[in-house]
Amino acid sequence: MSYLEEAREYEERMERKIAAKERPLYHLTARTGWLNDPNGFSFYGGRYHLFYQYNPYSTHWDRMHWGEWSSPDLIHWSFERAAMAPDEAYESGCFSGSAALDREGNPVFMYTAHRIIPDGREEIVRETQCIARLIERELVKEEGNPVISEEGLPEGFSLSDFRDPKIWREGEYFYSVLSSRFEDGLGAVLLYRSSDLLHWDFVKLLKKNDGRFGRMWECPDFFRLDDHSVLFVSAMAMKALSPELRNGFCSLAFLGKDLGGEPDLREEKVQALDLGFDFYAPQTMLSPDGRRILIAWMQAPESGNLAPEGAGWYGQMCFPRELSIRDGRLFQSPIREISSLYGESTELDLCADSERSVPELYGRTMDLSLELRAEREGFCELRLCFAKKGNIFTSLSYRPAEGRLILDRRAAGRAASICEYREVLLPKREKEASLRLLLDRFSFEIFLNGGESVLSGTLYDCPAEAGELTIFAKGARIRAVKHEIESGILRENF
Ligand code: FRU
Repeated sequence: MSYLEEAREYEERMERKIAAKERPLYHLTARTGWLNDPNGFSFYGGRYHLFYQYNPYSTHWDRMHWGEWSSPDLIHWSFERAAMAPDEAYESGCFSGSAALDREGNPVFMYTAHRIIPDGREEIVRETQCIARLIERELVKEEGNPVISEEGLPEGFSLSDFRDPKIWREGEYFYSVLSSRFEDGLGAVLLYRSSDLLHWDFVKLLKKNDGRFGRMWECPDFFRLDDHSVLFVSAMAMKALSPELRNGFCSLAFLGKDLGGEPDLREEKVQALDLGFDFYAPQTMLSPDGRRILIAWMQAPESGNLAPEGAGWYGQMCFPRELSIRDGRLFQSPIREISSLYGESTELDLCADSERSVPELYGRTMDLSLELRAEREGFCELRLCFAKKGNIFTSLSYRPAEGRLILDRRAAGRAASICEYREVLLPKREKEASLRLLLDRFSFEIFLNGGESVLSGTLYDCPAEAGELTIFAKGARIRAVKHEIESGILRENF
């Protein structure tokens, strides 16, 4: 049996052991086992396709396969069979990659073949770039693989850290951005170009880490949006630069004015993509109606070894987000299709000058919006506790006029000691502010002020019955709209 057949046989068997209620209601997980980065996010054959870094065999990272879901609408997803396994001599793992449509409109995939070569007592790692095409519903690796290896790498860059191609087609050419590590130990994004997908020329260094943004960079993405060029990187081992550019594994967006012509980045601004606890390796795609849509691995890589005991899966994707740029800042909001998941809705006006429980807003799977209007300019404070039961809760305290926000999940039920507390500074707001909470069984995503800032976090080990919500709003009136989320991922056995 091939590695791929083995994985397919295994996932089919193990998936049945995971009850629907043990999974998130509307966030994606691996069919079974471990998931990390989103890969090959694309639309073809009338459906969206989203692949993912996948180890079906355990809830830990290991020999990377690609798993797959597909969806007609980015909301209702079906698990497809495992899509790729590391079965070629040039790879020990199929690492992250992406998809584009070729000139005939067929999907083509570019990914990193990660190879470990034993060398006496040591191991040498080689990362090269490969192409796969969709032939009769199977991802078939090109005979000419790898298509970029040592010879294609500019001087001073490392073949052992050379990965995560993001490809797209523009005019006559296919382009790809790739991350690599320069000899000074710092990451960089390299731009490549090809006209036939098999021969790739190095065009230029798109951006180099100047030492402020961690060490190696991973999972670059480049796109044009609202007259800007945008580059994403996921920085490893960042030291804190500011409350926004925090330490750890941190995904960043560099934004500059788009001057047209060959892909380029005249950087004006840098922004952390998510200020919460769990967000890494985002990948975007252009939807058929022209929206730039992001999806990311909703997990801090640092918590990779902390799968809950006995779990059949570990790792989730964030809910897909639409991107836009306003006043030079990247905004993210949940894709509008979320409304197709809404069940019962509740609207109410609230005045909560002492902490109070709001039974109308109870629940664990909902899309909740709070509009805050300050009674006096510059004076208002919101404190919200959600996913609460007794001493278990996650809390948020927000003072819009100071731009100060504290997110605290220390009491959310987890025994493991990972980052549980963040204090961040946001753009200040004098009169009104808004907060939107997407709550699911194993996560929350908080969008502030129309998606100007986002904070995401997982909620493992937080009991399903923890659904109480309390509010304290000093100096503000609140308009709350709650949509219950009732249905979720489409699957025969869900
Ligand atoms: C990011 C990453 C990528 C790599 C993949 C391997 O999370 O380390 O750089 O391709 O995961 O699973």
